Amino acid sequence: MATELNKFSKTLTQEVTNPAAQAMLYGIGLKEEDLAKPQIGIASTGYEGNPCNMHLNGLSVYVKQGVTANDMVGLIFNTIGVSDGMTNGNDGMRYSLPSRDIIADSIETVVSAQWYDGVIAVVGCDKNMPGAVMAMARLDRPAIMVYGGTIRSGHYKGQKLDIVSAFEALGKKFANNISDEDFKGVIQNSIPGQGACGGMYTANTMAASIEAMGLSLPFSSSYPATHEGKQEECKKIGTAMKKLLELNITPKDIITKKSLENALTLVMALGGSTNAALHFLAIARSAGLSLTLDDIQEISDRTPFIADLKPSGKYYMEDLLGIGGVPAVMKYLYSKGLIHGDCVTVTGRTLAEDLAEAPDLNFETQKIVFPLEEPMKSSGHIQVMYGNLAPTGAVAKITGKEGMTFSGEAKICEHESEIISALANGEIKPGHVVVIRNSGPKGGPGMSEMLKPTSAVIGAGLGDKIALITDGRFSGGTHGFVVGHITPEAFDGGPIALVKDGDRISIDANTRQLTLHITDEEMASRKAAWVQPAPRFTKGMLGRYIRTVKSASEGCVTDEA
Ligand code: FES
Repeated sequence: MATELNKFSKTLTQEVTNPAAQAMLYGIGLKEEDLAKPQIGIASTGYEGNPCNMHLNGLSVYVKQGVTANDMVGLIFNTIGVSDGMTNGNDGMRYSLPSRDIIADSIETVVSAQWYDGVIAVVGCDKNMPGAVMAMARLDRPAIMVYGGTIRSGHYKGQKLDIVSAFEALGKKFANNISDEDFKGVIQNSIPGQGACGGMYTANTMAASIEAMGLSLPFSSSYPATHEGKQEECKKIGTAMKKLLELNITPKDIITKKSLENALTLVMALGGSTNAALHFLAIARSAGLSLTLDDIQEISDRTPFIADLKPSGKYYMEDLLGIGGVPAVMKYLYSKGLIHGDCVTVTGRTLAEDLAEAPDLNFETQKIVFPLEEPMKSSGHIQVMYGNLAPTGAVAKITGKEGMTFSGEAKICEHESEIISALANGEIKPGHVVVIRNSGPKGGPGMSEMLKPTSAVIGAGLGDKIALITDGRFSGGTHGFVVGHITPEAFDGGPIALVKDGDRISIDANTRQLTLHITDEEMASRKAAWVQPAPRFTKGMLGRYIRTVKSASEGCVTDEA
């Protein structure tokens, strides 16, 4: 075995000064000949407690088989995961975004401390993927991400269901639009088994865009968790990893400004989650690259939104596989000049070479992805907003279906739970701009995702009658008139902290302005009277998070001064 393939692990396995490490490696069952082989860390976010991650430890075993078959040593380790769907609103959701950085820190820690020559991450939920990729960028050793795969649809009384159906059933219950039997039926049948939430929500958005960036094998994001292609992919990873080691291709060869643009172009084309903006800002920073909200807006401006996928459309990620999957969409975008073909991928080839083997989209037979000339919207749905309510930026999701402007009276909710009780009491009225604040990275803390409020609003039939704005985040499953990631956040005294019930707020997606209609003098006087709230946590992980996290416009990274 050429020594350069084990250039990190040889420190432990070959140097006479490391007898304890070598003894331990014999202790885990390695033989003398194994000690000269490259060691590959296989990081799994597998855990039994949720469908997105329940199968990942099993997939990791297939990955290990492929690594072993290629004359390398695969060593599985676990890191944490948090399922957003199981956080029960703000209290649990506080831990979701911080979990991304814990995953990054823990993969960085294990791979560095144990001297692995490469890393394969087997991941399956919203934060797990950007967390793993941030670690790969920091480590800059050969790396591949394997997506656990999307879930299959649930079914109840002839309807296809997913996780959002369960949330929306709650809103229907508030509005007396669903029987007790059907409420139970929806909940019991929404999730048929393993896999990540099935629409173009955050997990599928991140999986598709990371594949587009070149860090996963082609089709990784398209195979459902239970598809035979997923196991095959896992077994092929060892061959791909060996090639990366031989060619010394590392994440910083793959994560470049151009490949970030490719990733974000796919997000816009498919109508992906606003969380992609946050996570790619963070991934870029981990790779030492400059990417700003304005760069994201530029990509949005030049990329038509062409996919009829949930949450705003009809189809699920499992349906995309049937028309050629993400590679077919990428091939189409490349043929139209929207994708850089000269980026390197984990296949060891250029993206253009990979796409030459991809299937073609057939616009005669499929109705999931439209031609660029007949888009759902002529530019991207993710819009970066500014204005006197968001001086350093905010991120909105505007598909055009909900209109381009909204103006209404502010209804303040100081906590995510307040909107649920306000809905239950009929206090949220058509025309309201609901302001959910103190939900930012520091104030929440953890920048909660408004999965429950938005689904409940839609279920209550108010989805197209009100707007929601927040310094928190929105789930990838959100649709409707929503603006999140407002900066500066309320905890830092941003203008969102100064809004009062009844103020007039307007959202203009044409001019990308978020405006609080009060005078500059009134704004200054409210700011002078504002008192910073005490942090909700001073100790533990969340206390440390409040002290270290950057703003949403800076990707909420936690490892920068
Ligand atoms: Fe894991 Fe949706 S909660 S993918």
